[in-house]
Amino acid sequence: MNYWIAPSILAADFSRLGDEIRAVLDAGADIIHFDVMDNHYVPNLSVGALVLDSLRKAGIDATMDVHLMAKPADRLIGDFLSAGADIISVHPEATDHLHRTLSLIRDGGAQPGLVFNPATPIDLLSEVIDLVDLVLIMSINPGFGGQAFIPASLDKLTDAREMIDASGREIRLEVDGGIKADNIAASARAGADTFVAGSAIFGSEDYRATIDAMRKALAAA
Ligand code: DX5
Ligand code: ZN
Repeated sequence: MNYWIAPSILAADFSRLGDEIRAVLDAGADIIHFDVMDNHYVPNLSVGALVLDSLRKAGIDATMDVHLMAKPADRLIGDFLSAGADIISVHPEATDHLHRTLSLIRDGGAQPGLVFNPATPIDLLSEVIDLVDLVLIMSINPGFGGQAFIPASLDKLTDAREMIDASGREIRLEVDGGIKADNIAASARAGADTFVAGSAIFGSEDYRATIDAMRKALAAA
């Protein structure tokens, strides 16, 4: 299994964001999870496309996995495409016309992702599965880092994995929220292949040791 570890910038030191991203990439991160919050769809504010654009101009060429927690989503998509997003994931609750939103991302040359909150039914995936390259299962309610993993997310991962396998399409299955070295294996066993971790990585003393511990747990999953 080709597992990806995706540090979330939300827990990084924003005064040194470029250095923090280089540090986790050097420590073995596969992609960077870029959390966008608008104090409207979620009760918190983070960063926008301008910051992504600056990181690209500073030479950071890693895969950027943009998690859009902003409503309405459509107007921002062009900004993130121009700024150099590789993956853009949207919440169905943050757009009136999900099919159009996912198409905007695909037509703009990025990979569309669809995000499921703890209370969002996974059935919706069947309606748009041909349009998504990534499914993101929230294992917390979106808005803040450092929350505890919600155990029922494992059943949702299992259901999503079944739907993805039945589709025959190549779709990444990502989990976001409360992921640590000591619980990452359970999500892998439930079908996840991409793991967001904010506080567990950026809150640790040694990024490499933390990512290595996650990989070891995944190898044994
Ligand atoms: C929360 C964000 C997460 C967050 C995860 O809304 O989507 O990506 O940074 O943080 P941890 O890993 O600390 O739960
Ligand atoms: Zn996120």
